Amino acid sequence: METLPLDLLGAIDDLRRQRNAVILAHYYQEGDIQDVADFIGDSLQLAKAAQTTKADVILFCGVHFMAETAKILNPDRIVLVPDMAAGCSLADACPAPLLQRMKDKHPAAKVVSYINCSAAVKAISDIICTSSNAERVVRSFPADQELIFAPDRNLGGYIAKKTGRSMILWPGTCIVHETFSERRLIELVSKNPGAHVVAHPECEPQILGHANFIGSTSALLDYVVRTEAPAFIVATEPGILHQMKKAAPEKLLLPLPGTDESCSCNECPHMKRNTLEKMYLALRDLQPRLEMDETLRQQALIPLDRMMALG
Ligand code: 13P
Ligand code: SF4
Repeated sequence: METLPLDLLGAIDDLRRQRNAVILAHYYQEGDIQDVADFIGDSLQLAKAAQTTKADVILFCGVHFMAETAKILNPDRIVLVPDMAAGCSLADACPAPLLQRMKDKHPAAKVVSYINCSAAVKAISDIICTSSNAERVVRSFPADQELIFAPDRNLGGYIAKKTGRSMILWPGTCIVHETFSERRLIELVSKNPGAHVVAHPECEPQILGHANFIGSTSALLDYVVRTEAPAFIVATEPGILHQMKKAAPEKLLLPLPGTDESCSCNECPHMKRNTLEKMYLALRDLQPRLEMDETLRQQALIPLDRMMALG
């Protein structure tokens, strides 16, 4: 059993300075992790922060594919993750050999992969997108270009509808966003007349159908801050509420529960594996460290660079 310092936050701060480390955190992290982070963002913002940081060490408080992306974009830095087992159901749903099989069946198709995928899947994709730039990425292809969209069928379906193009959708889903209940949403809307529904595009289409606004985590935060409404029903992982409450303390924020209200199945179990204790140990021991085969990294960098070049 590890003996932890009594002042964990102070110890993290000291180690951050000693290691010349930057702490990046996704909006789905616990509030105490967000509060200690140097930068909080959505997937695209975090990828950009990881790419441009001058720190020697990146402590990535998110999930595995995000830390992998940081390493692909910035190979000279040490990339630490508080818990190497923090995965993602979308990344797990799309093994690279199976995506390759789909590509073989559609040799003329280009592959657009959501950033929530492994480095091996990135390496066989033509371009990467995040929830904040997926529409722009898809529109960057000629209208008659056949497209495979992997691995999130909900984001893919939403973008297909928005752009009016048909895409071959990989059947992956996020275990958190697929759990939201339309019945519970309707109940909340009827109890809170005038409330705006904000939803992440990883939600199922029946949830998106009720949304006043659909966007990435940072776009949802921005919408809540700038929009006048009596209340907001938030259909995404409730970690985002921490920044919403800070930025708009006067607004009523209602997290949408999952189908079973007694469970906390609207929380991402992967994101929630990270803790302050694990952050301290990671900075102290410089472990667990994300390492990557250099050939794989270079292959995965090509579609990521194409996304970054779109701005
Ligand atoms: P964004 O922060 O890019 O909206 O992504 C949400 C998500 O599910 C990350 O895994
Ligand atoms: Fe993956 Fe869903 Fe968790 Fe995001 S919320 S990391 S998509 S499982």
